[in-house]
Amino acid sequence: MVDHKFVKEILFNEKEIQKRIKELAIEIQDTYKDIDQPLILIAILRGCIFFLTDFMKQLDIECSLDCMYVESYSGKTTASIEPRIKMDILSDIKDRHVLIVEDIIDSGKTLVKIVEHLKEKSPKSVKIVTLLDKKVKRSAKIEADWFGFEVPDHFLIGYGLDYNEILRNLPYVAIADIDKINEYEATK
Ligand code: IMP
Ligand code: MG
Repeated sequence: MVDHKFVKEILFNEKEIQKRIKELAIEIQDTYKDIDQPLILIAILRGCIFFLTDFMKQLDIECSLDCMYVESYSGKTTASIEPRIKMDILSDIKDRHVLIVEDIIDSGKTLVKIVEHLKEKSPKSVKIVTLLDKKVKRSAKIEADWFGFEVPDHFLIGYGLDYNEILRNLPYVAIADIDKINEYEATK
């Protein structure tokens, strides 16, 4: 999908995103170059899927993939519920190096929950990469080890990020037009 009425402004286009992902992969693979077992990537569904696949293809080290599904939004544009783990990983991560792959960190509450949960499984290390980092919105005490872009306090859509489960298939990251979304919601 190339355009949509809810797109207000494109922040990062496909080319910019791919360039930054390549840089992240180079930096991250260097950190893990001497580990003795494959790195375990843990994708936080569903927003990270676009980032995950592009990032994983660029990562020039052995790695495996597992997924978690954590619900933190109830469909709208603000984090209105406490994060709940709806689907856990299947891999045994004991004594293994783990890298959480996220689409965006906002308050940080989702990641706090995920990190606490994974640490109970005794991994050797847990680190975080996120494509987008809304640093101004952070209320929990957590930071990503790597982030692609710092972003302003707006509701973002595209490249995996959704509004009410749609618009993930925009190939870029954009600021959503909240006025238009509210108008649309009012007519439903
Ligand atoms: P947090 O717990 O507040 O850090 O929220 C994290 C989750 O909320 C992310 O993994 C996203 O799935 C979702 N989220 C946060 N900000 C946005 C946004 O601007 N657009 C779409 N989803 C978002
Ligand atoms: Mg997410």
